[in-house]
Amino acid sequence: MDQDTDSEARERAARRDEAVRGAVEQGLLGPDAAVVALLDVTGIRKSAAALRAAFDAVTAPGTPVLHAFAVKATPLVPVLRLLHEEGIGAEVASPGELALARAAGVPPDRTVLDSPAKTPAELREALALGVAVNADNPQELDRLDALVHHGPKRTGGTPVAPGSSPLGIRVNPQIGGGTIGATSTATQTSKFGVALRDEGAREWVVRAYADRPWLTRLHAHTGSQGIPLPLLARGVAETYALAEEINARIGRRQIDTLDIGGGLPVDFTAEATAPTYAQYARLLAEEVPGLFDGRYGLVTEFGRSLLARHGTVVARVEYTKSSGGRRIAVTHAGVQVAARTVYAPGAWPLRIAAYDPKGRPRSGPEVVQDVAGPACFSGDLLAEGRTLPLLEQGDYAAALDTGAYYFAHHYAYNSLARPGIYGFAPDGTGGVAFATVREPQTVAEVVAESGGAHASTLTTLRTPGSR
Ligand SMILES: Cc1ncc(COP(=O)(O)O)c(C=O)c1O
Repeated sequence: MDQDTDSEARERAARRDEAVRGAVEQGLLGPDAAVVALLDVTGIRKSAAALRAAFDAVTAPGTPVLHAFAVKATPLVPVLRLLHEEGIGAEVASPGELALARAAGVPPDRTVLDSPAKTPAELREALALGVAVNADNPQELDRLDALVHHGPKRTGGTPVAPGSSPLGIRVNPQIGGGTIGATSTATQTSKFGVALRDEGAREWVVRAYADRPWLTRLHAHTGSQGIPLPLLARGVAETYALAEEINARIGRRQIDTLDIGGGLPVDFTAEATAPTYAQYARLLAEEVPGLFDGRYGLVTEFGRSLLARHGTVVARVEYTKSSGGRRIAVTHAGVQVAARTVYAPGAWPLRIAAYDPKGRPRSGPEVVQDVAGPACFSGDLLAEGRTLPLLEQGDYAAALDTGAYYFAHHYAYNSLARPGIYGFAPDGTGGVAFATVREPQTVAEVVAESGGAHASTLTTLRTPGSR
């Protein structure tokens, strides 16, 4: 079954409408809480199950498969715990993300560390914990050499058994980009991984494995939003072919696990999910059948496709006005919760839903209007020239599909506070229950984070010899 049928999309929309109404009724949204973010726990669980089922359907029985959620997509501890409970691990790319995964209880052997700029301390910590590491480049491999040979100590002092962290190399198959340059990682000049088609690079990779029996994984992530499915599949096919070549040339099945990255795109213009995990897994099975025959363990690193659909930012319409004939709803959600959309609206459109002051879907004539945010620059628009039921003062505008790379990625323009994030699920009696995922930031916290404790630090600073 596909991840998302039309009826599932309708059910998701119905859950969202219920949640917006419940948030207003229960006072999470209102004049004193003008913007909140909501997370659909039911939807997250369903997506996790769809991911597992999609790959289960195409892999040989008994094949180890780790679906590691790309923490960067939604770096929230309760979300990571929920996914862990659903059998999903964590892909981390910074000390902060690793700490979040650990705080959520994701075990090291279900965690993968990728990033293009790992420090020696980060590598040491990962190896001490037993977290898998994909080396980004030859210099990083040198650092791993030193750690592997001189034996990192497990946190607490016990020596690490050599090889307890699965180690691999990230390659860039250089097969080209998608429609969004900033999220295309397999371009000719991408900063990620070993550029496989550069002169001598493929040979270097083969030798790197031949010289290091402890390198047992191979990793590529072709890109994120905007990469067409066939290109994603090609990136996986190139990685598989390289693993086969390495194993054949060194005469043993040294690479035992392929990490195929994430990148399944989300259709931000429609409710129904396409492509689905099932479609992607079936395409991979057609294009790269050997990947699933049980000879390789698999790691995936999906982020956006797991969480985007299940998050909604809801903001009160503070004022409405008209300017040059254009209707404008001024809301409390803008660049601080939707930086990508505001700065690159063409690449990152968001659907907007309109609700009345009681949180019920707004009806009424549709009008072309702008949905503006609160920040002080004119580009701070969630949507421009969008046809929607006319928003009125006291209504709510919801930015849909914002569960990944949006409200969890606060951008502190105008010192706007981080909104509260609440998970929701049916309460068992026909209503909606909410749980706090992240408290709303207070203005006092904004001051504290902005150097409030150091108010006179610059005025009292003296360089030696000055008066
Ligand atoms: C190495 C790696 N893996 C996984 C992901 C997640 O990608 P997506 O959220 O598009 O699935 C990213 C995104 O930047 C990444 O860099």
